[in-house]
Amino acid sequence: SVDLSTNIAGVNLSSYLMNASGPKCTTWEELEVIGQSASSAIVTKSCTMAFREGNPEPRYSDLPLGSIQSMGLPNLGYKAYLEMVPQLKALGKAVVVSISGFSIEDNIEMVSAFQNSDVDLIEVNFSCPNIPGKAQVAYDFEQVETALAALTVLGDKPIGIKLAPYFDMSHFIAMAEILKKFPVKFITCVNSIGNTLIIDPETESPIIKPKGGFGGLCGDYIKPIGLANVRAFRELLPESVQIIGVGGIKNGVDAFEYLLAGADAVQIATCFEKEGAVCFERIENELKAFMAQKGYTKLIDAKGKLKPL
Ligand code: DOR
Repeated sequence: SVDLSTNIAGVNLSSYLMNASGPKCTTWEELEVIGQSASSAIVTKSCTMAFREGNPEPRYSDLPLGSIQSMGLPNLGYKAYLEMVPQLKALGKAVVVSISGFSIEDNIEMVSAFQNSDVDLIEVNFSCPNIPGKAQVAYDFEQVETALAALTVLGDKPIGIKLAPYFDMSHFIAMAEILKKFPVKFITCVNSIGNTLIIDPETESPIIKPKGGFGGLCGDYIKPIGLANVRAFRELLPESVQIIGVGGIKNGVDAFEYLLAGADAVQIATCFEKEGAVCFERIENELKAFMAQKGYTKLIDAKGKLKPL
């Protein structure tokens, strides 16, 4: 039998698969469903200082090969998640809080608050593409460095960051050099590809409303980008920085490809949105079967072992 247990920043996880911050992880009821699923952690929707309704609808659309969305960070406000931590922990698995402040000051306040809570991991989202007028921090290298200097001194709880997809080797190198200066324990690669446009030729309009139809592209479309980001950072960063892969994982083989690229764990967003919480057990079983066929019994047998062609 195949053992998919893993460890992120000292936190034991019963499996390699968890939900991504994004779909169906905003309310207590949604988080409870994740707690009762085979997801190895409960990851919360990115929170902000205050409750947010999010962007106007329609703001999400299924696509044949994934989805496009411009949710705009609808969430309960960080204090609601802070208060929920004990009930979330009582569900018996690791709790990962995602925070997405609109300024360094917001992020300092929220990270400090969760540093003094029982959450297991803090994932700071530097890559939301959907707030009108706000740039993605992950594309502003100076701001990333300033923010990390401030956020990595606030406590002992492991901090990771959710990165935007990069598309140029110089950007992978520049970001890796910044990350190496701080005790960042993990990176999560990748957020959606921001500011893409799907046009309906019949109606001659975009298919989502916010930002003139510009939204984050998700699902199958972005798997090669996610794989490249995991692989590039795995080669550029020391082992002390772990990598959580995300982008287009909808079956066991997709999850295995991320393992070859070097992922220590993976997150599922679009597939969870479309299929519901049963996806975690299905993908887990498919990954186990695929690895068993190859004679692999644990993650390290294949982790990062992409073979040169
Ligand atoms: O694609 C995304 N959508 N990435 C984020 O980080 C936030 C989310 C949203 O709420 O718009």
